[in-house]
Amino acid sequence: MKKDGKKYVALVTGATGGLGTAMVKHMVDDGYLCVANYHTKSKAEKWNDEMKEQGYDVPLYHADVSDFESVGKMVEKIQSDIGTVDILVNNAGITRDGVFKRMTFEQWDAVIKTNLYSAFNCTRHVINPMIDQEFGRIINISSVNGQRAQFGQANYSAAKAGMHGFTKTLAIEVASKGVTVNTISPGYIGTDMVMAVPEEIRAKIIKGIPVGRLGGTYEIAHLVSFLASKDAGFITGANYAINGGQHVY
Ligand code: CAA
Repeated sequence: MKKDGKKYVALVTGATGGLGTAMVKHMVDDGYLCVANYHTKSKAEKWNDEMKEQGYDVPLYHADVSDFESVGKMVEKIQSDIGTVDILVNNAGITRDGVFKRMTFEQWDAVIKTNLYSAFNCTRHVINPMIDQEFGRIINISSVNGQRAQFGQANYSAAKAGMHGFTKTLAIEVASKGVTVNTISPGYIGTDMVMAVPEEIRAKIIKGIPVGRLGGTYEIAHLVSFLASKDAGFITGANYAINGGQHVY
């Protein structure tokens, strides 16, 4: 709760995916007013029905996070409907895996735009009101594959590594204004994105995870909710690895 008794407003991008859904539920349970960004209408409608059945009534807002203007319109609408975005979770992301010698420009472009430009597009539209109110939280969802190499992910690794570079500099620029900026780097979590990796390859990957299993979406959501809290005000510019020991450095 804020000083005026209102709930903190948290915008989660790519909210209708596996990680996003867990984040929204966790944050609603923890008392945030969560707002869900989506890209595909049919998926969002289904998601909305399922969430309502489970008792979660979460406002949905469309934007293509790779498009600066589209995000601007979404943020304007959220501000007029609900209020200032206090917490932004840059979670939306895609994969277009392929060995680099065969990677097309379209595979490169789509991943860089959706996974990295999105961090600029969304953050740029919410940061100034956060600075003005001297409170804000930016949480960038990167990946273990932004911290280490992954065969077939030159595009994804570049975008995810870029996200933490962005976190570090923005963190020091806004630190004195009560705004924190952090990265979470999940490993292989049991989402549709990971389940789309061919089974044989996935089995090999799981063998390389010391904890011996894929991560749970709630294991990421729990940290998101904590980093969003007022009590996390001294944590900034950090990169949290949640990967079951797959990459230890
Ligand atoms: N290490 C070394 N060599 C490898 C390799 C590896 N991990 N994987 C494949 N190769 C080699 C193959 O042996 C083959 O060699 P030759 O040409 O000498 O025969 C060559 O690379 C090409 O391999 P494929 O024929 O299998 O190539 P492909 O185009 O069919 O598939 C791929 C390549 C798309 C990268 C596939 O291997 C793949 O899907 N890998 C998994 C990638 C992955 O982990 N993605 C993560 C998605 S989930 C996510 O990103 C979430 C998150 O944040 C963690």
